[in-house]
This record gives sequence, C-alpha cells and structure tokens, in this order.
Amino acid sequence: MNRRRFVRTVSQGSLAAMIGLKGTRLWAQAPPAKEPPINCAPPKHGAAKRITFDTSTPVLPRKSAWDLDPPEITRLQSAYQALRDLTVKTPNDPRGWAQQANIHCFNCSGGFDPSNVEIHGSWWFLPWHRCYLHVHERILGKLIGDPTFRLAYWDWDTYPGHAILPPPFLAPGALVDAYRGAVPSNVIPAKYTGAAAMAVVLGAQTSAGFMGSASQSGALENSPHGPVHIWTGNANPNQANEPVGCFYPNTVGGPSEPQSPNCLDMGVLATAAQDPIFFAHHSNIDRLWDVWVQRPGVQGNWKNTSWLHHKFNFFDENANWVYITVADVLAAEEQNKLRYSYQPPKAKASPTPASPTPSPKPTAAKETVKRTSPAKAMAPLMVHSAATATAVGIKPHVQSVAVPPDHQANLRTFADSGPEANRHYTLHIDGISLPPNEGAIVHVFAAQPDANLETPVGPSFVGTFSIVPSGPQHQHPMERNAVFELRPETAALVAEKKNLEVTLVPEMVNGTEPLKSNLTYKKIYLSFE
Ligand code: C2O
Repeated sequence: MNRRRFVRTVSQGSLAAMIGLKGTRLWAQAPPAKEPPINCAPPKHGAAKRITFDTSTPVLPRKSAWDLDPPEITRLQSAYQALRDLTVKTPNDPRGWAQQANIHCFNCSGGFDPSNVEIHGSWWFLPWHRCYLHVHERILGKLIGDPTFRLAYWDWDTYPGHAILPPPFLAPGALVDAYRGAVPSNVIPAKYTGAAAMAVVLGAQTSAGFMGSASQSGALENSPHGPVHIWTGNANPNQANEPVGCFYPNTVGGPSEPQSPNCLDMGVLATAAQDPIFFAHHSNIDRLWDVWVQRPGVQGNWKNTSWLHHKFNFFDENANWVYITVADVLAAEEQNKLRYSYQPPKAKASPTPASPTPSPKPTAAKETVKRTSPAKAMAPLMVHSAATATAVGIKPHVQSVAVPPDHQANLRTFADSGPEANRHYTLHIDGISLPPNEGAIVHVFAAQPDANLETPVGPSFVGTFSIVPSGPQHQHPMERNAVFELRPETAALVAEKKNLEVTLVPEMVNGTEPLKSNLTYKKIYLSFE
C-alpha cells in the first residue's frame, strides 16, 4: 500500500472511531497515523574520535523503575522532556529525541543502508546496546545539567509484579508513548519472563548460548528480549491476517491493520527507540547480562580480540562523533568508566523453584545404554538440512532423525554429569529468514513431538527464538542463526528415544496460533563441543 492510500485508509478520524474496538487506551484521542522512518542515517560527521570517560564522577545506581523516589521520577520525566524539546527546537541536533531513535533504526534494521552493521542477531547485540544506553544516559544528564542522572530499568523478570508496563512510563508526560499496544492491565506471559523461562535463559553456560556469537543469536536476545518488544508494541493481537509482531500497515505488500494503528513503536526495530520504555527494557537486558556474567560456572564474555576491539560510533553529549570499543563497556568497566552499577530490584519475584522441573528419575530402559566418558568430539547430528528454505507454518512443526548409538551414549553421560560438565550440546537452527515487516516467536522442544501452545517450560523445552519486525525497506541481507544449549534434563529425555525429534511451536505474543507466517529456515542440527 503506498503512502497516499495509507493516509486515506487510516485517517485520524477513522482511527478515533475504531479505537474503541481495542478496549482501554492510554490516550484520550487516537494519535496521528505516523510514517515509518525509512532513511534514518545519522547527520553528517567527520572521523570518529575516541570517547572520553570522566572517571572522577561517582558510581551511581541504575534502579528499577519501581524503586525510583518521586524526585527521581520527575528527573526522568524532565530529561526525556528536554530530549523531546531538542528535536522540536533543533531537529538536526544529533542528540535530540528523533535522532536518538534513528540511531537504533539505522543500526538495528538496515535503515535504507544495508552496508551498515546489523547489530541484532549476533554477539554485537549486548555490547552495542550497552554503548547506546551509556551515550543516551550522558545526553539526558547533559540536557538537564545533572551528571548524576542514571537510567531506570524495567525488571519484567520480577514476576509477575513487574511484568507490566512500569508506572512511571504511564504517567502523563514525556515518558508516555501513544504508539503502544500493551495496556496497564496486560501482564507479560510467564513463558517469556516468568521464573522457569528466566532460569533456562540464565542457565546457559556458554558465551554463544547466552550472548550469541559472530553469526548466531543467543538466549537473552531471542527471549525475553524479542517477545517483550513485540508485547509492548501489541500485547493483544487480534486482527485477521496479521503476522506475528507489529508492523507498518503501509508496508509494501504487507497487511493492513486499520483497527490497530497504534501497535508501532516497540514492536518494530525501526521505531522501537521512539518509546522511552525502550531504554528501560534494554537497561534490564543489560543488567541481566551482568547477572549472567557473575554466575558460577559460566564461560562469561568472549575473549576474541575481533569482538573486544570492535568500535561502535555515536554522537556524544557534546554532539561529537565518537567511538567506543566493546572492551570499554564490559562488566568491570561499568563502574570504572561508565560510572553506574545496577541496584537489584527491591521487590522479589513470587517464589518459584530455581529449576523449571526436576530431572526425570533414571528408568530401567536407560540402564541398557552403555555409559562412556563424554566424548572429545562428535560429528554434529543433522536433523534437517535443505538447500532451499523450509517453511515453519503456523502449526507445530516437527523434524526428526535417528540418534546414532554413540550420540545416545554421550547424551546419557552428559545428562548424568549435570551442569558442571564443560562440554555442551547445542541445538542450532540456521538460515532463519522472514520478510522485514514480519516477526516471529517460536518455542523449541526436543523429545516431545506433540509439543504445542499448551506445553509448559519443562524438561523438553529447549528455548524460544524470536525476530522483531525490522520495518519496511529495512532489510539487511542476512539470515539469522539461533543457538540453544541443551540442558541435562532435556538431554536425558533425548537419550531415552530412538529419534531426536525437534518441535517448533510458533505463537503470537498472547499465546495463540499465528494467523500467518512466512518464517523459513534451512537447517536444524545438534552439535557437541
Ligand atoms: Cu536493538 Cu531491543 O533492540
């Protein structure tokens, strides 16, 4: 649908009339239909200089949005108000609100320039967003003349109490965004941020499994990161022919969703950072990265120099074009250079067992499998491989392959040696692809071919992968590869079966079957290293 047709179809008046269909909204009147940013390249700049860090300032806490006192809430509001005002007064100031949001658009979805780095879907995800948050925090502090300003985080994993839109971001003022689909009564489904799901995500032990690698997305990015975006953009998907996630109704060749014009900002990478809640969401992602790094037994951050020395460019608080390296922002440097630490949330999540479900008791059948020490190397077990793309569809989708005896024995040993084992089974889904106006949320199960939308996060649960829609014409020429560490309890189930059955269960963010999906992949395999 072209621009003119879109404006005609979704005029403001008709929006207002249709808003009632979606229940309570946060605004009295429908916000104007808005055009997606297509070309979101940064303003002109020269060569980047190294960013400077002021290490004489105090280390101060980033707090949960629920733990801010009233003056801190007011300060957060004034900072975002100043940022919004800057865009109105000086639209080309690279520090203003719209330009800030465009930085995310440019780096996260290819904003009209597929030559720039795509920082989603790989090991760039965590450090790039940490750099972005830091520069954003400095700009906000500078605009209100308060170098002690720190961002707040949205601890949706304090479940279920904080798995709702945080109150400061609902109060009228600069923290509200009219283009949100979630309403105050919505709660993020437990499958994404509940205790069992978080235990699986934070239980990843390898750097690749948690953080992703050069060409693979890791657990934290896949979920809860993606689903929380999609949920905030549109927690209540209910439109016919709607793919997963939010998208622009005027996407060329895309569906039109006139009844739900407001599911934009957080649900699409091109606009996500136009909602101040983006920065609270990402502060929590950033905090959980720290939580993970400090867990005993994890591999921790990558040590590759190509990762450590990589430079990201931003405009700093003085509108200078600067670079920061990944090494500048790793855990120890948050206090050293970036001058913040994460104050743990004061509220506690509802008590739930740390492990989703106890490992199944050994059965007689298992005992017949010969025990061996964990093998040094094993050929990957290919579950499915095709040169052309395989469609996932909208229903649970199963692929299976016979498990050779050596893998079976090894899976058994791995299952028994528990979480201390320093060798890991990883399930890979490679060559994942989607049109840029579509998203995906897919739960992955092993050894449970009848897994479906009702299947809980139990022993057969491998993980969740997601893709947040990029936005129209925002297409990096990339296919995504997702990796999932197999937990010992899942390996135990697989070791008991003749076949390795992998089930992909696509869903909408509200837990229903997607009405449409163009999701495809090329390969599924299990590796052991
Ligand atoms: Cu760059 Cu949460 O997105």
